[in-house]
Amino acid sequence: MLQYNASAAEKLLTKQKPADIKSDLLAARTEVLEDLRIYNSDEEVPQKKEPLDAGFIEYPQRLLAGEFADGSIDQIETIAGNMRDRVDSVVSLGIGGSYMGAKALFDALCHRCHNELPKERRSGPRVYFEGHNVDNDKQVELLDLLESRDEDWGIVVISKSGGTLETAAAFRVFHAALAKKSGSEIANQIAPVTGAAGKLRSLASAIGVQDESILPVPDGIGGRFSILTPVGLLPAAIMGLDIRKLLQGAADMTKRFFDSDPGDNPVLDFVATCRLFEANEGMPLRILSTWGDRLEAVGLWYDQLLAESLGKEEQGPTPLTVVNTRDLHSRGQQHQEGARDRIITNVRIGSINKDAVTLPKLPDELNHDQLNKYAGTAMETIQKAAFDGTNQAYADDKRPTADITLPQLDEYALGELFQMLMLATVVEGRLTGINPYGQPGVEAYKQNMTAILNG
Ligand code: PA5
Repeated sequence: MLQYNASAAEKLLTKQKPADIKSDLLAARTEVLEDLRIYNSDEEVPQKKEPLDAGFIEYPQRLLAGEFADGSIDQIETIAGNMRDRVDSVVSLGIGGSYMGAKALFDALCHRCHNELPKERRSGPRVYFEGHNVDNDKQVELLDLLESRDEDWGIVVISKSGGTLETAAAFRVFHAALAKKSGSEIANQIAPVTGAAGKLRSLASAIGVQDESILPVPDGIGGRFSILTPVGLLPAAIMGLDIRKLLQGAADMTKRFFDSDPGDNPVLDFVATCRLFEANEGMPLRILSTWGDRLEAVGLWYDQLLAESLGKEEQGPTPLTVVNTRDLHSRGQQHQEGARDRIITNVRIGSINKDAVTLPKLPDELNHDQLNKYAGTAMETIQKAAFDGTNQAYADDKRPTADITLPQLDEYALGELFQMLMLATVVEGRLTGINPYGQPGVEAYKQNMTAILNG
């Protein structure tokens, strides 16, 4: 089970402790539950709560319980299975919430060299991500790679609105390339995930994709809250991941959030610590310090979640993801001696998944690096020394750190983590009076871009 421990940070709180804001935390949780009640009812959503995208809260358990005919687990697995059977590579198109979750899952749970491995050693087709940027040369290079192989490939195109220019433009380009390679019978190599209506749905139908092969982005779930809907689950199933375990981890976290008191509730405790350092100690920077490359994209997913949800009305914390020990050699200096404006939350993994690598012993005449004294030491032990040493150094200088520990890196633990962070974000929104749903500020650039393109 995921654990959150903020004891080191809490010692550094000078004004209020989490226990002092217990009633505020409970009120925020009550408001989130009230949001859910309104969402599940036919009641009109109060104006100040629009939009109210609370659907993500119960979605994992409802999907596991088989409540949704459209976008059921069976449908997701059938579409994923068809894709896995038919193609050797998949290009996943999407941006923002329609991209970052799938990328986080791919980086965290697939083999680090997934795309380079021979087919029999991969858990599924190769996966490439596009449409999350407008980068001519990168697109050309991916198309070049796909063309260079005498293998079938397919497209997963994800856009809730169906109207996002980056994704739509990439779909045109990759659809044209696929048609050129494989002819007109390519509809079953295309898997759209999109809202109930919109341009992508009608385009997909027009190019021959059957209705049962189009997965929904459920109403009432915003893009950055959609990782545990078909938006993240279809790519995950194509990658060969166990989507039921992902959903179960999330459902169990929701139950802990509903049932546990502050002090024993990772969602409320995480909000309390982060919020108190921001409100009372002048620390609005939230560093998510991931230990190991695999979690970097999870951190970037969280950057979007926090920034797009709470960065409103000239307020909101600033998220930043780092990867250690890598970034101890870049940002570490600033965390240790720079402005006292940040709280660091470590995300660490309790135990490794693969065989332990240990430091080999060299003959004495080759011991120039003088590492023979560590011969036989496991990489995991070296990482733990770095972790403990880093946090001790921060504590010695009164710099706050807290830890999120995943027992191991797997689907269940990530399901817990994603749901914890999504719930924490909406709780903090309710606590601070910022509507965590919607992203009105993203529209300005889109309107300008369209106006410029229209001349
Ligand atoms: O969180 C959000 O809602 C956004 O980041 C969207 O996911 C992003 O803008 C992509 O939108 P769409 O899925 O409609 O293409």
